[in-house]
Amino acid sequence: MSYTSSEHITVNLDDRVLRIQFNRADKKNAITRDMYTTMANAITQANDDSAVRVILLEGTEGCFTSGNDLADFMTAPDTGSKTPVGTFLEVASTTPKPLVAAVTGIAVGIGTTVLLHCDLAYASETAKFHMPFVNLGLVPEFASSLLLPQLVGQRRAAELLMFGQPFDAPTAKDLGLINDTCADGSIIEDALAKAHALAAQPPSALRRTKELLKQAVRDDIAKQIQIEGEHFGTLLTAPEALEAFTAFREKRKPDFSRFE
Ligand code: COA
Repeated sequence: MSYTSSEHITVNLDDRVLRIQFNRADKKNAITRDMYTTMANAITQANDDSAVRVILLEGTEGCFTSGNDLADFMTAPDTGSKTPVGTFLEVASTTPKPLVAAVTGIAVGIGTTVLLHCDLAYASETAKFHMPFVNLGLVPEFASSLLLPQLVGQRRAAELLMFGQPFDAPTAKDLGLINDTCADGSIIEDALAKAHALAAQPPSALRRTKELLKQAVRDDIAKQIQIEGEHFGTLLTAPEALEAFTAFREKRKPDFSRFE
């Protein structure tokens, strides 16, 4: 089976590991609608392809992804139900194939929350993680408002999501968001080696283990993604978000003082 790449997402099968790589370095791998669709299509195809045992999500040198494209948020906000991002969230959170992440650098927004859905995650020593949803006038997505407190506890989750400040790779490891850190120069190689080691495991036992690990929360994840999506859709076109996006475009600090 062959896989389709697009301008900003490279997809290829590397000895039973499906490698999905962001390829938009000039925009810090900000994710557009087309990119979500390419990734969702690749994962959907892999779900039915016995040649794929593991899926690896990779960034480019020094950058995993800066999250959703902010220009897309402003010019054509996805507020409906079957949106490219919605389809990606559904497909990535339900794939039966083990998902591994190679966090090559900055991971913003969905770049961090996707790690909550990865079975294994490795990050370069200098990677930074950031969930600035509130800072953008938005709410957390991808069931992070459910999975993050489950992972790190309510108190630390509130701090990470409400202040929306970046944190470093050792902190991400301490929180349990990543398995380990790797040298900056070898992160892709190291994560790929882990993905290949996983792909060498007995496939049925591996898939069933993933299913067992996820089954208790699967329905809750789907429900939380939907509830978050409703809030997210409302806020995306509201004045607070508009101020945040405009400030980013104008390269200035946002001013939320006039809002109630
Ligand atoms: N959407 C659209 N464009 C983005 C982007 C995003 N999420 N992140 C970065 N870019 C663009 C910048 O506008 C800039 O474009 P330009 O060269 O045409 O001006 C280019 O990518 C490089 O970004 P820059 O900000 O100069 O790089 P940096 O190394 O100084 O900072 C980040 C990198 C990721 C910290 C910073 O770009 C950032 O905070 N981006 C926004 C992240 C965000 O809020 N994402 C949404 C989460 S829900």
